[in-house]
Formats: sequence, structure tokens, C-alpha cells
Amino acid sequence: MVEIYTAAVDKGLEGVVACTTAVSSIMDVTLCYRGYTVEDLAENSHFEETAFLLWNDKLPTATELESFKSEISESMSLDPQLIEVIKKIPAKDVHPMAWLRTAVSLLAHFDSEAQDNSVEANRRKATRLLARMGTLITAFESLRQGREPLSPVKGKSLAWNFLYMLTGKEPDAEMVKVFDICLVLHADHELNCSAFATRVTASSLSDMHSAIVSAIGALKGPLHGGANEQVMLMLKQIGTVEQARRFVKDALANKEKIMGFGHRVYKHGDPRAAILKKMSEKLTNKIGEGHWYEMSSLIDDTVQNEKGLLPNVDFYSATVYYSMGIPIDLYTPIFAASRISGWVAHAFEQYANNRIYRPRGQWVGRQGLKYTQIEQRRG
Ligand code: COA
Repeated sequence: MVEIYTAAVDKGLEGVVACTTAVSSIMDVTLCYRGYTVEDLAENSHFEETAFLLWNDKLPTATELESFKSEISESMSLDPQLIEVIKKIPAKDVHPMAWLRTAVSLLAHFDSEAQDNSVEANRRKATRLLARMGTLITAFESLRQGREPLSPVKGKSLAWNFLYMLTGKEPDAEMVKVFDICLVLHADHELNCSAFATRVTASSLSDMHSAIVSAIGALKGPLHGGANEQVMLMLKQIGTVEQARRFVKDALANKEKIMGFGHRVYKHGDPRAAILKKMSEKLTNKIGEGHWYEMSSLIDDTVQNEKGLLPNVDFYSATVYYSMGIPIDLYTPIFAASRISGWVAHAFEQYANNRIYRPRGQWVGRQGLKYTQIEQRRG
């Protein structure tokens, strides 16, 4: 007797509650990490402290924070042998997210605790991974420009070091603050596609590096983290404010998606987009290129009027990064450098209360076929 599974299919798992979580929550238009609103954290916290909060379910004391920051600082550098290996990964004509996926996987080969899945080892590995993401991404940029990667500066934040290693210059304090806020805003987002990928991999009791590599692969796609890069490419393709409305109307008429709009969960707006919108206005004007904000704002109004969709985190972050002079294809890797804090928190939570994810698929294919020998088959 053939069993056919006939439960209702929730395509894309919309509305399916797959696990309990206390990492971050989305309730209507409010996003909280461990109970604190993202607005509160963006204004008062910074990325390292936010990562501590996500991993420990509490804000750190001054001593705890100093100790966590110093562990990160000590872990930012790459093993010289690893640098020699990553130099061999093709960096030209390859997407930085594909390069990053390979490079993060390689980190495991240089981590003596890679196979140790104990709570303590996972915490140490998580700190090393968090600390090295920015070092890897900026190494990629240096390598494709034909330069030697720069070493991180101890005692400086992850945001400071990212901008320093990217440009080779001491970054401006205001830009460090802006970048740090972006890291805080992208740190976690409940059971998004890449957090779920992390948890699915962790649920087989696979190791931390494997879980993070799965997440990077999921984030890369244009329907998830890859959208921020697509937004800037779209703005450049539109070219002028005057063309913006026409572009949107034509795209919608052709049933094309406008990148940076829509969300599976938020139906009344993404709180991160509201913060990034203000940052985009300020920064594009600061560099004398306010037309990028004007264009974005007009697209925002048009998509809302025509389709009732609101911007998500990726829409205004594109022009924020652009104003900072960051290469467009690094926007998604930056998302990964932040979101790794959330992925790790989800992996910790999954390991602590695990059951392997194993849903069913509803069979819609043929049944009862009999094997035919190759010489009897017709094309
Ligand atoms: N532009 C135009 N139409 C969009 C749209 C967009 N960005 N996002 C959703 N829609 C439309 C769909 O075409 C569909 O319309 P229809 O009912 O007329 O066919 C409807 O809204 C539902 O969209 P759907 O893709 O089924 O929603 P989802 O919940 O599966 O997907 C996203 C959510 C975020 C993947 C989707 O909104 C999207 O692709 N956005 C663009 C990519 C993006 O910005 N991703 C980053 C997310 S933070």
C-alpha cells in the first residue's frame, strides 16, 4: 500500500510556525532583538554589544562587553596560511558572495575546533567567525584590485576596521557610526530564509561553519539579501529622477518585481527602512548626489500607489552604502557580516533545543513506472 501524504501545502511555508525562538521578534511594524526594539538599539547600542545581546539574551555589563570586544579584536586577523589559500580563489568575474561562501568554508579548515560541537567550542568558533567576516570581505576587495589585504587594527571596532581595511585610510568617525548602525539594523530578523537555513543545517547536528555557509548561500539570492545590490543597479539603470515613475509603472505592468519592496511578514512597513530612509536622505545630500534619494523616494511613492507595497530594509540601505563609496557588489556581503550575529544566535538556540527539520513533500509525480532497458527507450 503506497502512502501518499495529503496535508495542505504551504508554498514558501507562509504562516508556518517552524520552531519557538527568543532571538528576535516581528510584531506588526515592530522588530525587537531579545525584547529591545531595533530603533532603541540603533540609537543607543553598537554592533558588538548587539551581537552580545543576541548571543546571551542580555545586555552586557561594562566588564562583559570589554571582554567580548577584546576576544573579537584578538580574533580578527586571518591565519597567514589561510591568506595564501584565499589568494588562490578566483576573485575576478566572481560574485563576492560566492567568494565569501568559499572563504568562510575554508575558515573551518584552519580552525582546530571545527568538529567540536560543544557549547564552549561553538561560542569560541562563533566569535572567530563574527570577527573575521569583515576581514575576509575586505581581503576580497583588495585581492581583486591587485593589492595585498590589510590587517585589522586591534582595539578598533568591527565597523571601523571594515572601512579601514576596505579603503586603507582611517575612516571618518561619522561614517563609522553610520556603518555601525547599518550592522545593528541587519543583525537579525526572526525566521528569515538564511536564519532558517542556518537552523536546518544545525538541526542535523552539523557544525557551526557548515551552518553559516548554508546561511551565506541562502542570503546570496536576490529575493533575500541580494536585493540591496539589485536596488542600486536598478537606480543606476533608471538614471534620472524624471525616468523613475515611468520605469516603475512599466516594470509593474510587465509583472516584474521592484527590488527592495514587499515583505512576507511586514504588511504595514519595515521599521528598518524608516531609519535607513532618513540616513539615505542625509548621506546622499552630503556627497552632493541627493538625486539618488529623490529617485528612491519617488519610486517608493509610486510602488506604494500602484501596488500597495512598502520598502524593505534593502531599499534605502543601497543608497546609504553608495554614499559611503562602497562597491555595489559588496552590499550583500556586508549584510552577511552583520547577519552572522543572528545566524549564530539561531544556531545556539537550535543546538540547545534540537529536533531535526524533516518536513514532507506532497507527491505530484507519476507512480508505478517499470524500468525499461536502454535499447528499448524512445526519445
Ligand atoms: N515588486 C512588485 N511586485 C511585488 C513585489 C515587488 N518587490 N513583491 C511582491 N510583489 C507582488 C507579487 O508579484 C505578487 O503579486 P500578485 O499577487 O499580483 O502575483 C504579490 O506581491 C505577492 O508577492 P510574493 O512574491 O508572493 O510575496 P512573498 O511573500 O513570497 O515574497 C518577497 C516576499 C520579499 C520575496 C517579495 O516581496 C520580493 O520578491 N521582493 C523583492 C525582493 C526583495 O526586496 N527582497 C528583500 C526582502 S527583505
